[in-house]
Amino acid sequence: MRIDILTLFPGMFEGPMTESMLWKARDRHLLDLRLHDIRDYSTSKHRAVDDTPYGGGGGMVMKPDVVTVAVEAVLNGAPPDTPVILMTPQGRLFSHEIAVSLARQQQVIILCGHYEGIDERVNALVVTDEISIGDYVLTGGELAAMVVVDAVARHIPGVLGAEGGADRDSHADGILEGPQYTRPPVFRGLSVPQVLQDGNHDTIKRWRRELGLRRTWLRRPDLLLKASLTEDEQYLLATFADEDARKSNASK
Ligand code: ADE
Repeated sequence: MRIDILTLFPGMFEGPMTESMLWKARDRHLLDLRLHDIRDYSTSKHRAVDDTPYGGGGGMVMKPDVVTVAVEAVLNGAPPDTPVILMTPQGRLFSHEIAVSLARQQQVIILCGHYEGIDERVNALVVTDEISIGDYVLTGGELAAMVVVDAVARHIPGVLGAEGGADRDSHADGILEGPQYTRPPVFRGLSVPQVLQDGNHDTIKRWRRELGLRRTWLRRPDLLLKASLTEDEQYLLATFADEDARKSNASK
């Protein structure tokens, strides 16, 4: 898979894109990650990329001529329907589902906004999608783009070994992952649950699912509304609700 990132600050990507899983993905030619400096597409003497906004107000706006030409240069030769994603707090909220669907693309182009924003005509002309990573405002789209690249790369076949399959992640089926343990079996008086030490795979699988379900119930009940649950799991949820009701009655 190829991901092109258009940014005013290519240096920001140095660390995250040259370490750990992303580096391995690039090294194994599973991820072709290319950075483009938007400033290279400015034709003005001082390589200007922004200008004051029409109608006043503070800040600067990224110029449509520079940004559009930069995106078109990268689009040149890309497969038809290549998504051009603008990172912006005004976009749709990024999710596991979006990461999975982007990982199925041959190529994705990500545009990092900066300053007060990008001239709206860039959206009309070349942007096909706008993505936000959360309801807060960052100083630019770079960190958001890194989040998207990392989450997408985990779903490119071969990037995670068979052992670390992304299909077992929290959120993969709408349920959070349960707790994890490694050696030693007892640390500062806290033991690894006996069921894990016993090593029965079926029992462990059921136990993990139950604890994941319980954790989701406690921390992110909103996720349960869209999770697909078996009848047994729905029964378990009902028992959690019963337990809660009993506890709250007891404390009255
Ligand atoms: N740029 C600034 N804030 C952002 C956010 N929350 N998500 C994506 N891009 C952004």
